[in-house]
Amino acid sequence: MPGSTNSWMDLLDRNTLARSIPAVLKGLAGHPVPLRVTHCITYRCNLDCTYCSRHDIPEDELSTEEIKALIRMLKDAGTRFWSFNGGEALMREDLGELLTLGKSIGLAMSFATNGVLVSDRVDEIGDAALVSVSLDGPREIQDAVRGSSYDKVIEGLEAMAARGIRFSLFAVVGSHNIGALGDVIDLAEVYNTAAFFQPVRIQKEDTDETATRYFPEAGEMKEAMAYLIDQKKRGRPVASSYEHLETIGRCWPHGMPDVQCFGGKLFCFITPQGFVTQCCDTLRAASEVPECDLMKCGTDAIGHIPPCKCTTCYSSLPLEANLLFTASRRNPLAAAGKVVSGLLFPGRGVRANR
Ligand SMILES: C[S@@+](CC[C@H](N)C(=O)[O-])C[C@H]1O[C@@H](n2cnc3c(N)ncnc32)[C@H](O)[C@@H]1O
Ligand code: SF4
Ligand code: SF4
Repeated sequence: MPGSTNSWMDLLDRNTLARSIPAVLKGLAGHPVPLRVTHCITYRCNLDCTYCSRHDIPEDELSTEEIKALIRMLKDAGTRFWSFNGGEALMREDLGELLTLGKSIGLAMSFATNGVLVSDRVDEIGDAALVSVSLDGPREIQDAVRGSSYDKVIEGLEAMAARGIRFSLFAVVGSHNIGALGDVIDLAEVYNTAAFFQPVRIQKEDTDETATRYFPEAGEMKEAMAYLIDQKKRGRPVASSYEHLETIGRCWPHGMPDVQCFGGKLFCFITPQGFVTQCCDTLRAASEVPECDLMKCGTDAIGHIPPCKCTTCYSSLPLEANLLFTASRRNPLAAAGKVVSGLLFPGRGVRANR
């Protein structure tokens, strides 16, 4: 396929990517390494997006000092990339302090945000290597589904661009915006960045199925993915890989038998209370396994993550990682070639300034 790299690799810090190779080899050989950690630092949120069930779940949160200890502990265990997620990470007053600590010990720090609080807090987040901002389309679509957030999101993008903070866009694809994905790509182009796309889904632990109201027909999702693949081939800034878009188009919303799970082996998620698990679809189950408590059990907790029983994998980062590592197992040389070409010949990088 055209383009020498998976463009999401271009969003990663190249030195950190190069330093990750030994951990990847170890992980592929079967020894769990928490190369990339996603920490859902809080479930609290200032929005109530209509398809989301992962906000305002009552759960204790680790203190600032506990999170700092966790970051140091996992860095020693092989973590190179650390991303805060939520809920809304900016609900935590200590986010900037934690980004600074992680960066100071050599981690590529990032966070996902709905963007609403970014402009007010922009002076605190300069140590983020990348900020992922959720945006589903033009104002009328964004505001109908994600609260009245569009103007504040743009204000946040402007504030980051003015300070040279790198960011990417992240859109959920559903019936609400399936004809407007080009608007997200246009905006990414304006800011010289790139956009990720993730299909709407019911998270595996949800009993609330309201997200189904945004489910398009499978054929429509396939068409949407074909459109994104075409845009990417034309050199437009679609960060999701060809393999990712093709797999979603082919499988959504059903099973994907040919994808192995590397959750808990090369990447992991951490709950607000400090329990480790494979991914965002198994967060609530994690807190029920005492051996997965990182604060009590240290990094041994990673070895206690229960085996994956999934037949589907529709969350953006886990699917990207699972596709890449599954391909690496099947054809190590081709996968290594892709990583090396990604390191040597980055495609569209992300400049923060217009
Ligand atoms: C749970 S949010 C947490 C981070 C932050 N609050 C935000 O909105 O970016 C992470 C991502 O999941 C997406 N998301 C929420 N509910 C979803 C669903 N039912 N299907 C697919 N993606 C969903 C959000 O739009 C967001 O991009
Ligand atoms: S901002 Fe993020 S966590 Fe909050 S409701 Fe929306 S998608 Fe969910
Ligand atoms: S297959 Fe995907 S959704 Fe399932 S546990 Fe693994 S990473 Fe999570």
